[in-house]
Formats: sequence, structure tokens, C-alpha cells
Amino acid sequence: MTDLVSPRIAGLQPSPTIAVGKAAQELRRQGVDVVDFGPGEPDFDTPWPVRTEAIRALEEGETHYAPSRGIPALRTAITGKLARENGLHYEPDEILVTPGAKQAVLEAVFATTMPGDEVILFDPSWGSYDAIARLAGAVPVHVPLRADFTIDPERVRAALTPRSRLMIVGTPNNPSGHVLTARELDILAGVAEERNLVLISDEIYERIAYPGVRVVSPASLPALRGRTVTINGFSKAYAMTGWRLGYAAAPLPLVEAMLKVHEHSVTTATTFVQLAGIEALNGSQEPIHAMVEEFTRRRGLIVEGLQALPGVSIVPPQGTFYAFPDVSGTGLTGTELAHHLLQAGVAVTPGAGFGEGWDTHIRLSFATSEERIREGLKRMAGVLQGETAGTI
Ligand SMILES: Cc1ncc(COP(=O)(O)O)c(C=O)c1O
Repeated sequence: MTDLVSPRIAGLQPSPTIAVGKAAQELRRQGVDVVDFGPGEPDFDTPWPVRTEAIRALEEGETHYAPSRGIPALRTAITGKLARENGLHYEPDEILVTPGAKQAVLEAVFATTMPGDEVILFDPSWGSYDAIARLAGAVPVHVPLRADFTIDPERVRAALTPRSRLMIVGTPNNPSGHVLTARELDILAGVAEERNLVLISDEIYERIAYPGVRVVSPASLPALRGRTVTINGFSKAYAMTGWRLGYAAAPLPLVEAMLKVHEHSVTTATTFVQLAGIEALNGSQEPIHAMVEEFTRRRGLIVEGLQALPGVSIVPPQGTFYAFPDVSGTGLTGTELAHHLLQAGVAVTPGAGFGEGWDTHIRLSFATSEERIREGLKRMAGVLQGETAGTI
């Protein structure tokens, strides 16, 4: 039967985070208490005013197709948000509303590449960028970041070929939590201009940035404005992962090209969800501030706890709710350590899921309570002390 499946699809790897989630769920089913550092979503609920707006929209019969680009009032709210918070000035027609940021990444990749074109990814990177490039028939080219997760211009230049077409960055980055610096933005601008590349900037974690950190949208640089697709969404900032709502902002020709992919695949984002999205953007932002304050406390706890573990070191995340420590000092790979930790009731994602060469690391999501973080760290200490005593 497998000969019925396209080799393009058969070769795709399943999401590493979903695989960890399944393993944790299976253990839980057997009655094991698992501290789950796997999830890629906030452990908060969507704020009530947003939910109420969706209920109102349903009650009023907002159940028909919306305009394919997105409801005009939502696109206007998005242009307001981008101007206010990111210094990005777009017309509503330069906005495309999508069912999730992931769909926006897919539409941007399909809209800008031909089969065989090369897509530059900076590792460690979110696994879906690689998979989406492959779905489009493009070729992912993985450029390793430095140990501090910054871009090495020499490595980028070495990866460029006449087929290079697109670069994808995330700021803040999943899994490292790194936020692009002014120097890195200049490197990206220089390379993109020189080689006429498109840049996709995935800013889905932009609102989850820690005190003193400023997330700069690449498109705010004049050199990048005309060649960047800025992608953001509601999943992480407003704890709306299950609603499926995201968007892209880009120059009109790019949006028009993405719209073709959009109209022939998803048609539009869900109508009542879009109406609730207007409330999320224009209503009180207090729930985001409260959530980020909570993540700030947890980040302090997990960074300190990880640093105290034998063989573990960490560059503290500047954004996101992920910690991505280097565990090579334990003598184990990320995959081996994740396996041992799972036996001790702690689920983490091996770094291998974020790029070849990164199995020196593991990813821990701290979208879980302080109490569970403490318990997880205690169990990790138990495993690693066993490791130094040679009992694993
Ligand atoms: C880097 C990155 N981009 C995009 C997404 C997907 O966002 P959405 O739920 O809006 O599709 C995720 C979700 O985990 C992510 O980690």
C-alpha cells in the first residue's frame, strides 16, 4: 500500500513535539505521573471577552464564508496593531488572514518558490519550516547558528547558490528563544538585497518577550520592507491555539500570490473566529501582560534550575516559553537524555527535532505551573545524578 503514497509525503518526518506528547499521553494512560515539558501552547485559556465575541457572532448567524482575504474590520485592526507595536505600515489589502500562522508560512513558501528552489533555514529551527519547504517541492538548506544562536554571516554566504530563493527566520525563535539582534537584521538585509531573496519573518511569539528585550520586525528595515512576509497570529499571544487564526503582511504582489494558494486550499479563515480576533486585538491587552508576567517568573525558575544541573548549560531565552539547554556535558545526546527522563516521568523534546547537529540540546516548554516545573527539575536532578554515578 505504501506505493500509493507520494514519496514527497512519505519522506516527511512527524512533528517531534507531537511525538513527545503521544509518548507522555501513553505513560499517563498507564497511570504514570508525567511532568510534561512538551507542549507548544500556553497553559492559559482564551480571555473571556474574545470568547464572548465568538458566541455573539454565532448567535447572530455569522456562519457563512468570509471574504477570502479576511474580514475588512479584522484586516484594519491588524494594520493598527502592526503600526502601533511594530512600526510596520501596511494597507488592509496587504494583509491576508489565515487559519493559523502555520498556514500563512505554507502559503508564503508556495507563493514564492518553484520546485527545486532552495529555502534557507537557520538551525535550530521549527521543524515545520523544513516540512513545508518539502511539501512545496523546494529544497531546505540548513544553516547552523552559532552556539549563542546568532547568525554567522560566513555560514549564510557559504550556503547561497543560484537556486537560493527564500530565507525563513523566527523572532523570538522556537526552540532557542533568541530574538534577532540589529547586527543579524543587517546581515539578513544585506544577503536578501544582494541575492534578491524573499524573507519570511515568523513573529508568532513576538508578544512573549522578557523584560528589557525588544523584538524588532525585520520588515521595519527599509531594505527588507519590500521583500518580507511578516507572519503573526493569535495562538500564543491570546492563548487561541485551537481557534486557528493567523495572518501575513506583505507587499501587494506577494499577498496576491499567497491569496491564490489560500483561495484554492482553505478559502478563508473561519468567520466567527475572525470576528473574535478583532476583539482580541482591539480589546484590553491586560491578559497578555498577566500571562507574560507569569512566564517571566517561570523562566527565572527554570533557567536557574537547569543551570544547577550537572552537565547542563543554558543561554536564557529572550522570548517564547521554551528553554533550550545544552546537555552535551552530561555525556548523553538529547535523544538519549529525553528517553531516560521519560522513564523518570519527565517529557522533553530532543534537540534533534530542530535540526541535525542540535541533539546536543533538549527543549523544555515552561507552559506549565511553577509547582510542576519544580517537580520536573527535581526528577531531572535525580536522573542526572544517577548518570554521574554511572547508573544509567
Ligand atoms: C515558530 C512557530 N510558528 C508558527 C506556529 C504555529 O502557529 P499557529 O497556531 O498560528 O498556526 C508555531 C506553533 O507551535 C510555532 O512554534
